[in-house]
Amino acid sequence: MHLELSDDHKMIQKTVREFAEKEIKPLAHEIDQSGEFPRESIRKAAELGFTGVYVPEAYGGAGLDHIAQTIVIEEISRVCASTGVILSVCTTLFCDPILRFGTEEQKQTYVTPHARGEKIGCYCLTEPQAGSDAANQKTTAVRKGDCYILNGTKAWVTNGSVADTAIVYAVTDPTKGPKGISAFIVETGFEGFKVAKEEKKMGINATATAEISLQDCKVPAKNLLGEEGIGFKIALRTLDDGRVGIAAQATGIAQGALDEALGYSQERVQFGQPISNFQAVRFMLADMATEIEAARLLLRRAAWMQDNAKRYTVEASVAKLFASEMAQRACHKAVQIHGGYGYSRDYAVERMYRDQRITEIYEGTSEIQRLVIARNLLST
Ligand code: CAA
Repeated sequence: MHLELSDDHKMIQKTVREFAEKEIKPLAHEIDQSGEFPRESIRKAAELGFTGVYVPEAYGGAGLDHIAQTIVIEEISRVCASTGVILSVCTTLFCDPILRFGTEEQKQTYVTPHARGEKIGCYCLTEPQAGSDAANQKTTAVRKGDCYILNGTKAWVTNGSVADTAIVYAVTDPTKGPKGISAFIVETGFEGFKVAKEEKKMGINATATAEISLQDCKVPAKNLLGEEGIGFKIALRTLDDGRVGIAAQATGIAQGALDEALGYSQERVQFGQPISNFQAVRFMLADMATEIEAARLLLRRAAWMQDNAKRYTVEASVAKLFASEMAQRACHKAVQIHGGYGYSRDYAVERMYRDQRITEIYEGTSEIQRLVIARNLLST
């Protein structure tokens, strides 16, 4: 593993940074306030291949690697955490499981338009009673002829109210516990698929997070992903990828907060000099920079393992846990350096502070990451 980015990765970083500064940053405040889903930004990101960074070119992607994916998500999240996670979910939680477990027909039909950004995907695992205890699924899927009939409620679905297609997890055999869960590719236009509610949240306001109701939703049997009974494994395998994406998002938010704090501390004059001259402020900036660097290395290690076909469940949890809690500390310091202005909606750090919070919760809380890490420590 190389600690430095390759020249190709540096070029990708430069391209995505320029794009983020020009196209994404100017809209970040507006979409945070309005909650509007950034469709046009996603369309423009798709033109550069950012909706399918590591998806093979044969299925509409850019054919790059997972390190490139972390660079894209970090750089976009540095200026807008909502846009960052929308892109991450489209690739890691939607395209990835189909690439890994889908038939050739499923890949052609579903991965290709989503990787090209023509369609939006989402991932429906969580239910009102199945958050951290994700195996406690109540949504059912009953085979009837050449269809499955799905009934249940899915909660906290990122992209849920705007998605064209969803990966839905449901119980096909209630006698088998987690081994009775199966995964389905469900077009949101299928009869019985309904957006029940759009969530009003503390942050990442433009992500169209929704509750989904499935009422006798008719799904063709050919849309079963993998075999019956392997749905929970697909869900957890997929979250390995998703968690690396959230680690990238958190690292990006923290870097954005540091950028803002660096700029502000050199402009803000108190006691006759810029506050960046004061050791109390310098120490905060130094701690932020140090921790961001550490998170980035953990993130790159997890991405490198993805690219080298190694199991990286623990590394993904380590990266997500550290990056998300680090981002909390970084955003806290950035607001502190801004003083009263940091508490104002006129300053980006106020949004970053709110946006960061979810990175410690979704795609597995910090407690679940610790559980995964500790299990691994104790099993060897
Ligand atoms: N890859 C492949 N297989 C895996 C796996 C992985 N990463 N992790 C586990 N498995 C397999 C196990 O080997 C096991 O298979 P066998 O029974 O054949 O041995 C099976 O899957 C079940 O695994 P566990 O026994 O470890 O499952 P568990 O029920 O004990 O606990 C858990 C798992 C870690 C607590 C898990 O439930 C979990 O991660 N919970 C958090 C859920 C979560 O992250 N939800 C976020 C949803 S997405 C979201 O936030 C919304 C959004 O839109 C962004």
